[in-house]
Amino acid sequence: MSLGVGIVKTLAESGFVSGQSLADQFGVSRAAINHHVKRLVEQGVEIHRVKGKGYRLGVPLSPLDVDRITTFFRQHSPDFVPEFHVLEETESTNTFLRQHLVGGGAWLDACFAESQTAGRGRLGRKWLSVPYQSVLMSVAHELEGGPSASAGLSLAVGLAIVRALDESGFPGCRLKWPNDLIFDGRKLGGILIEITGELGGSCISIIGIGLNLHLPATMAKQCGQPVIDLQSACNRFIDRNLLASQMLSHLLNVLSKFSRTGFAPFVDEWQQRHAHRGRLIKVTRGRDVLEGMALGVDEGGALRLRDSSSRVHRITTGEVMA
Ligand code: BTN
Repeated sequence: MSLGVGIVKTLAESGFVSGQSLADQFGVSRAAINHHVKRLVEQGVEIHRVKGKGYRLGVPLSPLDVDRITTFFRQHSPDFVPEFHVLEETESTNTFLRQHLVGGGAWLDACFAESQTAGRGRLGRKWLSVPYQSVLMSVAHELEGGPSASAGLSLAVGLAIVRALDESGFPGCRLKWPNDLIFDGRKLGGILIEITGELGGSCISIIGIGLNLHLPATMAKQCGQPVIDLQSACNRFIDRNLLASQMLSHLLNVLSKFSRTGFAPFVDEWQQRHAHRGRLIKVTRGRDVLEGMALGVDEGGALRLRDSSSRVHRITTGEVMA
């Protein structure tokens, strides 16, 4: 455990803690504690310092813990415990998992990270997050039918996350095609799926999910679109270990069913959660913009849109501007 993680864990369990008692606890100088606290603050972790009292977290948080995630997972799915890692910091959980598996590492179902130094979003965008204040995870899923078997996969993944949020007591999350998680019209999280392997043969999809739990206003402004975090949306304490285990458990269940059936059995539930169903939307595809009423999705995961001349379009790539 790094000193930074140690400090966060101690602060998460206590109220104010003095710099001296942190230094004694970890056997380092007070200057080393100051240095690490400064770095955490620069990364966006809210730590307040009050003269005579010490340090305290600005918002309550629960660091990820393999044992706690495993215990929660067993309660939910007693017959199977996945192989997963929790990383303190990594470039991107998708990159980590891909390199691990392609590099011949032992099979890993998933990995979580407390922070990413180069988190990636869809369409070449960056994914911003504050350490300890998101769920950043990637899950590996084998596509036996090759890349063509992935039609609708990202939509099914979105549904799994919505189910996990519902079950963890955070209802009300909706889905924006193809796979944004939306709350109150703003983006709560996103999904990035990358496929590795050979065309035609079996391949591995790396499914990356980022969910905002607490996003400081300064970072929210840098996101380039309206965003929200779960803390502001629901205003109650979030046990990240419980939420992480629920997300993993629902995801693995959905992926196991998806392997057998594809997206078809998920269509109705997805429509119930569709953020734009029956609404007028614009969809950009490169330079083209299509406008019309969102009808929903089909069994291949495509968005169906009816334009003003009643022509129904089947859209497989693009971005909804609503
Ligand atoms: C999007 O909406 O643009 C997709 C965002 C996906 C972000 C997650 S965070 C965990 C995983 N690692 C990454 O680098 N990206 C995904």
